[in-house]
Amino acid sequence: SDRMLRAVIDLDVKGPRISRHLYGHFAEHLGRCIYGGFWVGEDSDIPNERGIRLDVVEALRAIRVPNLRWPGGCFADDYHWRDGVGPRESRPRMVNSHWGDVVENNHFGTHEFMDLCQLLGADAYVNGNVGSGTVREMSEWVEYLTRGDDSPMSSLRRSHGQDEPWHVPFWGIGNEPWGCGGNMRAEAYADLARQYSTYLRNHGGNKLYRIAAGARDDDYSWTEALMKSLTCLGCGPDPQRLFEAISFHYYTIPLSWQERGLATVFDDAQYYRTMIQARRVDEIIGRHATVMDHYDPRKTIGLVLDEWGTWFDVEPGTNPGFLYQQNTMRDALVASVHFDAFHRHADRLVMANIAQTLNVLQAMILTDPETESLVLTPTYHVFEMNTGHHDAESLAVNFVGDIPCRSVDGMDLPVLSASASTRDNRALISVSNLDVEATQSVQFDLRGREVQDVRARILTADKPQSHNTPLAPTEVAPKDFPLTMNERGLAVEIPRHSYVAIELLLA
Ligand code: AHR
Repeated sequence: SDRMLRAVIDLDVKGPRISRHLYGHFAEHLGRCIYGGFWVGEDSDIPNERGIRLDVVEALRAIRVPNLRWPGGCFADDYHWRDGVGPRESRPRMVNSHWGDVVENNHFGTHEFMDLCQLLGADAYVNGNVGSGTVREMSEWVEYLTRGDDSPMSSLRRSHGQDEPWHVPFWGIGNEPWGCGGNMRAEAYADLARQYSTYLRNHGGNKLYRIAAGARDDDYSWTEALMKSLTCLGCGPDPQRLFEAISFHYYTIPLSWQERGLATVFDDAQYYRTMIQARRVDEIIGRHATVMDHYDPRKTIGLVLDEWGTWFDVEPGTNPGFLYQQNTMRDALVASVHFDAFHRHADRLVMANIAQTLNVLQAMILTDPETESLVLTPTYHVFEMNTGHHDAESLAVNFVGDIPCRSVDGMDLPVLSASASTRDNRALISVSNLDVEATQSVQFDLRGREVQDVRARILTADKPQSHNTPLAPTEVAPKDFPLTMNERGLAVEIPRHSYVAIELLLA
């Protein structure tokens, strides 16, 4: 009808490529992410390959995890890699002071992580230790991982059973240096990042993509300090770049760090607040990108959001240091609006990592220690429904007229979010209705290419609080969503709190 909101998509006007690395992951030595999550040990009754849980690997292969960040997080700046190589029984133990103050036995170390990456088919993103490590320690870790000859570190690696060097494309220079990674000022860290990156060497054919640790949320001055110091002017006639990318972290917290609420217990106002916070990511990416544009107008330096996701109170009765939370339809929509924002900023945002893959914060998978079963979360399903966006070219979605809004605390939430991409003879349109009260109708005017066929799936549930458990594992799961074309494109009625992925077959 004429009153229906219109959205125009020119299927032949392609924007920047959406890197598959925007769908990256993060696994920290935190709570039950590694131990009791990925790692069950070789002697476990749970089917495993060399200690790594196989049903987890199988589920993650289906969402095509492009890269995995490890070992932290805050843990990274406490981690000494040499404690995690060699025979497991003789590895020294350490205290994981950030996360539950538990004793860590270092059974999951460099070899186990690279094994996990290989099982997942994911690129490794290793986060080095700046906070409590040394330049030499980090430099030797790179040599250990990536060098092929008989250098001291490659020989040490061989003595631990790995002949061939690994491919390690991504390297993080510390984590949150403004906080747990050393409580530094931006300029002090910027100097350290320059120093450390000088010794992060490319061995053989391995080329490191060095990522300087960036801002918290909207601290644009941190990004500016790093951009000012990324070029080494004294390094010869051609200025050299000392790192290839800058990261930042942004978590979705409904109210404040003191009042986060539980993952499954919230009212409509709390839900809308969460969505307002989630949608802020679009502005925050954009403003970091604007600072970078000033120093790097040709966009050669990448922006990396290497921690994002919801952060609620832990589930009652669980260790507060383990950050274990349930995951509902609300989380799924937080994910879908993040991806829409990522697609819109694909010219500068090159990588993102959700925190965290398993049993921690906004997880894809929750494992149940009692039944040993696993549950795929609503967030997992959004990742799965979006695999068609990986490495596709973005398409602009232009709404004609104002998107309806809900208001809370004097702030407006536009309740529709959408993005699109195309690859070969396909296009994928993502659309979320964030309204918990009403269906939203959108007429997609599809221009520029002939659409031969359409196939859509929906992720929704009775309530935004709906979630999956071992007894009800498919409470929130994708279903077919029949759609038919009209003369202008597609008219879609999007039920409240739902995410729809529409695949078009193009002539
Ligand atoms: O993801 C949990 C923690 O959040 C990370 O260790 C840290 O980098 C951030 O503060």
